[in-house]
Amino acid sequence: MKVLVIGGGGREHALVWKISRSPLVKKVYCAPGNAGISGIAECVDIKATDIDALVDFAKKHSIDLTVVGPEQPLVEGIADRFREEGLLIYGPGKKGAILEGSKIYAKNFMQKYNIPTAKYVVFDNPAKARDYLGSGEITCPTVIKADGLAGGKGVIICENIVQGMNAITDLMENKKFGNAGEKIVLEEFLVGWEASIHIITDGENYMVLPCAKDHKKIYDGEKGPNTGGMGAVSPSPQIDATMKETIKAKIIEPFMKGLKEEGIDFRGTVFFGLMLTKKGPYVLEFNVRFGDPETQVILPRIEDDIVPVLMSAAQGKLEGDVRMSPNVAVNVVAVSRGYPGAYEKGLEITMPEPTSSNVLVFHAGTKLGEDGRLLTNGGRVLSVTALAPDIESARKEAYGFLKQIKFKGMFFRKDIATL
Ligand code: AMP
Ligand code: GLY
Repeated sequence: MKVLVIGGGGREHALVWKISRSPLVKKVYCAPGNAGISGIAECVDIKATDIDALVDFAKKHSIDLTVVGPEQPLVEGIADRFREEGLLIYGPGKKGAILEGSKIYAKNFMQKYNIPTAKYVVFDNPAKARDYLGSGEITCPTVIKADGLAGGKGVIICENIVQGMNAITDLMENKKFGNAGEKIVLEEFLVGWEASIHIITDGENYMVLPCAKDHKKIYDGEKGPNTGGMGAVSPSPQIDATMKETIKAKIIEPFMKGLKEEGIDFRGTVFFGLMLTKKGPYVLEFNVRFGDPETQVILPRIEDDIVPVLMSAAQGKLEGDVRMSPNVAVNVVAVSRGYPGAYEKGLEITMPEPTSSNVLVFHAGTKLGEDGRLLTNGGRVLSVTALAPDIESARKEAYGFLKQIKFKGMFFRKDIATL
């Protein structure tokens, strides 16, 4: 069969890598892909949000299954369009994607179905938001979130009232994230360990994937601004068998009930961003796609062929298996100096080929120059995943290989998987 993967980051490289290992798959295309992906799949120069062009491509090339990486095309309705055209696609339609596309919808859904989440208030008027923040009803630190998609940057943790007031102005009046900040959620700050739980579902049944933890802050010790993710580890050190059961009972089961009651035909991944607090697990957010870089540690730990699972979920009759390797996976992301702010592109990357099958390099922002040299092409440039029987050995392997990779201004955290 022929598979099309949509997107071009580290997550999509990991998806393409896993899918291309399936004996069922003859050919993998990726739109738009990146330099690393072009080594194992045919990259197609179509943007992930160019839905018309993607539909045309899938028809022309008789694609049997399309797998969507990023949230934007899902929120814009790519899955509905593919289904209307009779094309098989893994990913929710608009009605499901709004669980990530609107924080307000997600919070209301959680409240309605008794899914533990931080206390919150919604505002569509900046003056009212400022009044509320100034009234002392909520204490700082507090969290202010743009309702809509903001590329992972629409969540602002405010240590004091001044920061909170500035966040309200930035989001609602200065429109830092455009219309995404027209409405905001102001919510209680939760303390605990973060964890990422992914399920694959057909809307009725689900399979829980290996748990993971990512490190979102740019600097060691979880300091500095949030990024897309600087590294990840699977399994999450904070999740044991009891916690898994609690997460199922308190979060996944009520979520599935909510899908059914709301009539949401969800065929894809749900990634629950959790905070494990003293009072139990709370949901920070829903994502309707695989996490990045979580995917780079989850997929290498799945021993079974993922294609029958993705395909059957897309068909609405989930089957297959996702047995996990007992190995630990650690992933460390290398970024360009300046990220998550402004950074340079087009810098040459040099690296050897990994000699061990337990070390994987996943490209994110890379491209091939006209002369065939490998160049940086984004903030998160690439990442290294290592698999080993324990965290320490996996860290050692991942960092050992990462140190052999060079590009100007390369930066990575030194403490991934230590917290
Ligand atoms: P989100 O996009 O909602 O996952 O938020 C991005 C990051 O902001 C999360 O990974 C957390 O680190 C942090 N965050 C979001 N909501 C809260 C909260 N209520 N309390 C503490 N931290 C939060
Ligand atoms: N790693 C977090 C995300 O993919 O949203």
